[in-house]
Amino acid sequence: QNNVNQAPIIATVSVIAHRGASAYGPEHTLPAYKQAIQMKADYVEIDLQMTKDGQLIAMHDETLARTTNVKQIYPHRAPWRVKDFTLKEIQRLDAGAWFNQANPKLAQKDYLGQPVPTLDEAIKFVKQQADGKVSLYIETKAPNIYPGMEEKLINILKSNEILDDPNLIIESFSEDSLRKLKSIVPQVKLIQLYTAKMLKGKDPSQEFKRISDYAYGIGPSKELVTPQFIQNAHQNKLVVHPWTINTQKEMTTLLSQGVDGQFTNTPDKLVGLIK
Ligand code: G3P
Ligand code: CA
Repeated sequence: QNNVNQAPIIATVSVIAHRGASAYGPEHTLPAYKQAIQMKADYVEIDLQMTKDGQLIAMHDETLARTTNVKQIYPHRAPWRVKDFTLKEIQRLDAGAWFNQANPKLAQKDYLGQPVPTLDEAIKFVKQQADGKVSLYIETKAPNIYPGMEEKLINILKSNEILDDPNLIIESFSEDSLRKLKSIVPQVKLIQLYTAKMLKGKDPSQEFKRISDYAYGIGPSKELVTPQFIQNAHQNKLVVHPWTINTQKEMTTLLSQGVDGQFTNTPDKLVGLIK
């Protein structure tokens, strides 16, 4: 029987498009973000790296090798670390061609020549395309090798007037990075990411209590998640957003266990289950 005062829990589950709709288009390019928006994801996830001249760009890896044609364009600059290239140099690269080669059935002409977006460009694009209906979920990636990353991120969020957006989320594996953000922008929701290794030998309940002074939630690797694990997090008022879930079978299991969101390369599949 329907109780009109009680929204189904499932309605609050967030669909987080991991690197954009990255199963269908080249990760961290504007077409992958656009597809996430068209699929009605709640969030576009953006990983951050920093260039030699201190610009934040949307990229998962610390090197340009996997997702661009850097080896062709700059063959003598191995190992092609982001931090050793200026933004101008990176803007010469093609961040889409690799996807067409790796996924011939999903290849699109439009992917060829896609540039690596700066964080500023990515934010402006999502805001404009989604008309404010899709929010950002931004990861400070490897902040230990990029001093000042948090301050630069905050300045860009400020200049795009989204620092006070209640839906904005920042995530990191780095507790130091999250604590730094908490001290500068306490209003922003922060997610502590966990690999299985990070929790090895720890009591999750104690760990969640410890981080609850700065964290809004946790982003565990999916194999960590059990009903008890979720309960421990919820008892500490932490939301649970596991990664990375790409099949409806796994999505359904996690939904039934009570997760609050899921990172997925296939946001259409999760949207199909919950909306
Ligand atoms: O940010 C959640 C999940 O994306 C962490 O893994 O390596 O894809 O950034 P990764
Ligand atoms: Ca990430």
